[in-house]
Amino acid sequence: RERVDGRPCRQRLLVVANRLPVSAVRRGEDSWSLEISAGGLVSALLGVKEFEARWIGWAGVNVPDEVGQKALTKALAEKRCIPVFLDEEIVHQYYNGYCNNILWPLFHYLGLPQEDRLATTRSFQSQFLAYKKANQMFADVVNKHYEEGDVVWCHDYHLMFLPKCLKEYNIKMKVGWFLHTPFPSSEIHRTLPSRSELLRSVLAADLVGFHTYDYARHFVSACTRILGLEGTPEGVEDQGRLTRVAAFPIGIDSDRFIRALEAAPVQDNIRELAERFKGRKVMLGVDRLDMIKGIPQKILAFEKFLEENPDWRDKVVLLQIAVPTRTDVPEYQKLTSQVHEIVGRINGRFGTLSAVPIHHLDRSLDFHALCALYAITDVALVTSLRDGMNLVSYEFVACQDTKKGVLILSEFAGAAQSLGAGAILVNPWNITEVAASIAQALNMPADEREKRHKHNFAHVTSHTAQEWAETFVSELNDTVVEAKLRTRQ
Ligand code: G6P
Repeated sequence: RERVDGRPCRQRLLVVANRLPVSAVRRGEDSWSLEISAGGLVSALLGVKEFEARWIGWAGVNVPDEVGQKALTKALAEKRCIPVFLDEEIVHQYYNGYCNNILWPLFHYLGLPQEDRLATTRSFQSQFLAYKKANQMFADVVNKHYEEGDVVWCHDYHLMFLPKCLKEYNIKMKVGWFLHTPFPSSEIHRTLPSRSELLRSVLAADLVGFHTYDYARHFVSACTRILGLEGTPEGVEDQGRLTRVAAFPIGIDSDRFIRALEAAPVQDNIRELAERFKGRKVMLGVDRLDMIKGIPQKILAFEKFLEENPDWRDKVVLLQIAVPTRTDVPEYQKLTSQVHEIVGRINGRFGTLSAVPIHHLDRSLDFHALCALYAITDVALVTSLRDGMNLVSYEFVACQDTKKGVLILSEFAGAAQSLGAGAILVNPWNITEVAASIAQALNMPADEREKRHKHNFAHVTSHTAQEWAETFVSELNDTVVEAKLRTRQ
C-alpha cells in the first residue's frame, strides 16, 4: 500500500458483525453516550498492527429519527464504528426470529422450532425474508464505505447472506466469513428449509473460517451432499472457482488478563473474596444465560455431587454468573425461570442459616471483578451442551497461574480440542459423570493440577486472539491472489 506522510499506510479491514462493540445510550435528541465493550474480538483486532480495523454493525438500539441517527453516526465515527440502522420489526424478524430462534438452536444441535408446522412454515418464510433484507442493509453500508484495497471480514451466523450481497456489488472485493458457532453435521443442516441458499451465499466469500477442523469438515460435507459440489483438501470448488475453507481457532488477549491480575483493585478484590469464602472451595460458572450453555444440567450435577458427598456440603460453594441475553426470545425467558427454580430448590435443600451452596447472579461482572473471581476459583465448570469455542475456559486458565485450579470442560465445546489434555473432559448430558468429575477435581493432588495447568496455560498464552486475526486476514489476502491466478490458468 502507498505511504502517507512517510508512514506506511496500513491495510483497512472492514469488520462486519451483527453487533457493534459498543453500548449506546441516548442522552438527548442529538446526544449519545458510548461505551466500547472490550471483548475478545475487539482486543484481537485492535492489537494487530498490520491493519486498521473499522467496525460495521447494528448499535443494538432502535433509532427511528434522522436527527438521532446522524448524531449516533457521528459519535460512533470517533470509535471507528459505522452503524447499520435496523427498525424494530426487522430486528424482531431477523435477530430474534431467524438468527436466534432458528439458526442458533439448529447450529447447536437443538433442532428447528417444534411448534405447529404450518405456523412455523409461515413465520419461517417471513423471517428468512427479513434475514435477507437485513443482510442486504449491511451490504449497502459496507459498499458505501469500501475503498479499493480494503479487506472485508464478515462474522457469524447473522450474516451468512452477506458474502453474496457484497460480491454482487463488487466481485473484486476481498471477502472473508468466519463462523463463531459450531457448524453442525450436514444431516442437521439439511433440515433447514433455506439450506442451499445459505450455503451458496457463504461460498461467495473467498475464505470461510471455523473454530475447529470438524466444523470445517461439516461445512464441506454440506456443500458436497446438499449442493453436489466438489470438496477438496483446500475447500469447495464450484465450476473452477475455489472457496477456501479452513479452521482458525480463536484465542484471547491473554496478556490483558495476566496484567489485570497485578492491578491494585483486582488484588484487593482477590483478598476480599478469599476472606469471604475462607474454608470453602470455590467452583465457578460464567455463562451467557443461554440453553446451549447447559446451566440447568450443570447445577443438577452439582446437586448430585452434594447428595453423594455429604462431607463436602459445607466446604464448597458454586458461584454461577449467568449473563442475561436475548431476553425478548421466549425460550430464553423460560430458561431463566427454570434455572431460578432449580437453584432455589437446591439452596433450600442444602443451605444452612449461615451459608448456601449456590450463589447465582443474573448479571455480568466488570472486567476486574471477573479476573479476581477467576483467580480465586478452585474448579471452573464449563459444561456447554454445544459451544463454538468457549473463551471462558481460556480466560480462567489465563488467571490461574498462581492457584493452578482445575478446568472441567465439555467435550462439545470447541475449546476441548485445544485444552483437552489439561482439562477434565465431560459429557455435560451425563450428570453422574459430571458429578464424579467435580469430586475428582476437588480432590486432585497439587502436582497433577500443576501439570494440567501448565499445559493449558502454554496453549492459552501462545494461541492468542491477535494471532488468530492476523492469520485469518493474511490468508484472506493470499486467497484472493490465488483465486485470480486460478482463473487465469
Ligand atoms: C455468541 C455469538 C455472537 C454474539 C454473542 C452474544 O457468542 O456467536 O455473535 O454476539 O453470542 O449474543 P447477542 O445475541 O447478545 O449479540
